[in-house]
Parts: sequence; structure tokens; C-alpha cells
Amino acid sequence: MGMLISLRDWIDARFPMTKMWEEHLSKYYAPKNFNFWYYFGSLALLVLVIQIISGIFLTMNFKPDAEHAFASVEYIMRDVEWGWLIRYIHSTGASAFFIVVYLHMFRGLLYGSYKGPRELIWIFGMLIYLALMAEAFFGYLLPWGQMSYWGAQVIISLFGAIPVIGDDLALWIRGDFVISDATLNRFFAMHVIAVPLVLLILVVVHILALHEVGSNNPDGVEIKKNKNENGIPKDGIPFHPYYTVKDIVGVVVFLMFFSIVVFFVPEGGGYFMEPPNFEPADPLKTPAHIAPVWYFTPYYAILRAVTIDLGPLSAKFLGVILMGAAVVILFFLPWLDRSPVKSIRYRGPVYKFMLGAFVVAFVVLGWLGTQAPTEGKTMLAQLFTAVYFAFFLLMPIYTKLDRTKPVPDRVTG
Ligand code: HEM
Repeated sequence: MGMLISLRDWIDARFPMTKMWEEHLSKYYAPKNFNFWYYFGSLALLVLVIQIISGIFLTMNFKPDAEHAFASVEYIMRDVEWGWLIRYIHSTGASAFFIVVYLHMFRGLLYGSYKGPRELIWIFGMLIYLALMAEAFFGYLLPWGQMSYWGAQVIISLFGAIPVIGDDLALWIRGDFVISDATLNRFFAMHVIAVPLVLLILVVVHILALHEVGSNNPDGVEIKKNKNENGIPKDGIPFHPYYTVKDIVGVVVFLMFFSIVVFFVPEGGGYFMEPPNFEPADPLKTPAHIAPVWYFTPYYAILRAVTIDLGPLSAKFLGVILMGAAVVILFFLPWLDRSPVKSIRYRGPVYKFMLGAFVVAFVVLGWLGTQAPTEGKTMLAQLFTAVYFAFFLLMPIYTKLDRTKPVPDRVTG
């Protein structure tokens, strides 16, 4: 013990170890009323670690070569010791990442966590979300299956739809006139190092911004406004040990669900791993039905909802713009929301209705994005695209008009 203390002091004289431990854990005061929705930040961290570690092991046997990629994945599945487990952890982890992050973002909408002074936490979060989408897109090409190939073909062709620069841009992304070995090589570089590095840096700044202002909570009460004589928020408790222990409960429950999927339904009913991807990529054979993985389908449905050309602008290009706008508009949430209160608990009926409508729209669009388009389904997609955008574009009006309840000084419960 004495030796450990001397070692600690030796390190502390040279590196801010204890200082950082205290600042971010043992003396970081978090609101005492966190609920279910506050598990998903730490779970997102867990999934990030799972993806990086399983990804490192996959890289040991994967060959980023158009001639060998598909076979190397089969080799991992059949011959590498525990290779099947590592691959299923990584493929399930991709979907788990989006489930966790979508719930994490939804918590932000429930409790107004993006509102001042937490705008930058939200913006860094949105940048993480963009990086995550890029990471998933690059990774999906690597197994070089039919859906990998044709999915990438569809997405890259979206860039090709941009007037004037489109064709050159698509060529630049592919590094060839068609998706080829060169494309696979660069996507591998992006997937295993470039984007993960950006993601890690963004997660660090996300949490630094969070610890600068402190967490919001289900009441939307600023706990720093009520401090005791020692300058400690009266409604705060030290993150460690209280929330480290609470988060471990979340981790255990999450890992139970995660293991059930990995061991019993790794393909997630065709939603986590799509059936056409068990066939090697064939540039001469377009699959009957191309659909992105479930986490992209709401945006895919918005893209396909645009069916009319406007002068020189093709419906495809307009769809791309609308799809991009559907993501970009989320960045502006802190400024679109004019409500005097943060938490749903003190908001009025209009916000509750609009949030409900938004969730329904997102889920229905997600389902529509998995389906082959018909006239009826396209109309439905147009309707719910309108609902999706109404949530944001009308927000400055309805959040201002909505009847709110008085917010207490201290957190409740
Ligand atoms: C790899 C992905 C992410 C990781 C590891 C991560 C991590 C975290 C952690 C550990 C917290 C504190 C715990 C919690 O409040 O649940 C947090 C809070 C927060 N995150 Fe994230 N996050 C990620 C993605 C995102 C995204 C995509 C957004 C939104 C676009 C976002 C927005 C927020 C906000 C607003 C808070 C503060 C919430 C509050 O105090 O009520 N995060 N994040």
C-alpha cells in the first residue's frame, strides 16, 4: 500500500493522474436524478470499444483486395479460431451502435439537452453521427458481397447526380471509372484508420464539452444554480462511484441483449446482415432489390420521395439535397427550439404531439426505405417526409406558442 501511494505521488508529480481522476470522476458532480435514458452515452462508449477491438482482430485476417476480400471473410468465418464470433460481434456491433446512438439522441430531444449552454455538446454529437455514418458506409463495402458492391454503387451515384461536378466527384471517390480494387483499398484505409481516428477525437471533445458545462437531467434543471457552502451542487452526486456502478448495470443488461443477437440471430432477420451479401460482388448482375442497412433507410426513403424534376435539376439531385437537409437540419436544433423549458416534463401538448409525430415519421420512413417502391408507398414516404421536416421547420413557432409548466428550482425524485 505504502509503495502504491509513493508510486501515485511519483506519477502525480509528473502527470495529472489524480487531478484528472478527480475532475472527471470522483469529484465530477452529476445530477442525482438520471434515469433510463442516461445509460446510452456510456453504452455508446462501450460499443465504440467493442468495434475497435473486434475490428483490429478482423483486420488480422481480412484482405483488402477485390480478388480476395470475399474469400478472406469466409475464411474468417470458417477457419480462423473464433473468427465467426469476432465477425458477428463486429457486424452486430454496427447495428447496436446505431440503436444506442439513436436512443441517445432521442434522450436529447426528450430533455432539451441540446439547448444552451449545451449547444456544442450537441454539435460535436452530430459530427460524431456523421462520422459514424461514413464509418458504416466504408465498412459495408469491405466484405465485397453483392449488397456491398451495389449499395456503394447507389451511394456514389448520388454524388454523381450533383450538377456540373458530379461525374468528376464520383470518379474521385471511386479512384476508378467503376467501383474496383482501388475503391476497396481506399475504403479500407478510411474504415480502419481515418474515420475511427476522427471518431475518437470527436468523442473526447464531446465529453470535454459535457464536463465543462455539466450534464442536463430529466428535469432540465441546472444543478449548478444551487450549490452548498462548499460549492458542490446540492442536487449533484459524485460520478464515481455512484454512476460508474449504475452504468455497469446498463452494461450487463446491454451485453445480455447483445449476446442473444450475436449467438442466436446474428443476421438480425436480414436487417443486420442482408441476404444478398452472402454472394460475392458481381458487377454484371444487379440484385433485384437494393436497400441500405436499416439505420440508413429513413434517409433513403426521403431520397426516393422526390419524384419530380425542377427545370435542369433532376429528381435524383433534389432527393439528394432533401436527404442531406434531413441530416443537416439536426445541427440547428439548439436554435430552432424557442421553448423557455428544456424537459418534456414541463413542455406543453404541442411539443409532445410534434415529437410523437416525428418519431412515427422516422420509424415509418425507416420501414419504407427497406421496401421496393410502389405508387402508394412513395406517397406515404412523401407524407412522412413532410412530417419529418415540419417537426423542425415549424419548431420556432410551436415551441414559442406552446403552454409550458413552471420548472422547479431543484430536481424532483
Ligand atoms: C460514439 C458516439 C457517442 C458517444 C460515445 C457519446 C458519449 C456521451 C456520453 C458518455 C455522455 C454522458 C452520458 C449521457 O448523457 O448519456 C453524452 C452526453 C450527451 N451526448 Fe453523446 N455520445 C455519442 C454520440 C452523440 C450524438 C450522435 C449526439 C447527438 C447528435 C450526442 C449528444 C449528446 C448530448 C446532447 C449529451 C448531453 C446530454 C445531457 O446532459 O442530457 N451524443 N454523450
